[in-house]
Amino acid sequence: MRDKNDIVCHCEQVTYGNILEVIDNGADTIEKIGDATMAGITCGVCIEELEEILEEELE
Ligand code: FES
Repeated sequence: MRDKNDIVCHCEQVTYGNILEVIDNGADTIEKIGDATMAGITCGVCIEELEEILEEELE
């Protein structure tokens, strides 16, 4: 189980809670999450997890 304070994107210090918030606000692609939070735009290591979270939330 993820915690809202867990850092998902270490490059940009973006938490699971931050990601949920932008998905709630309509971000439905990895690109939009990146635009809103900067997550995934530096090294890209977190993209797989971003995809997982997005899938879970859009279900
Ligand atoms: S950990 Fe997210 S871009 Fe590097």
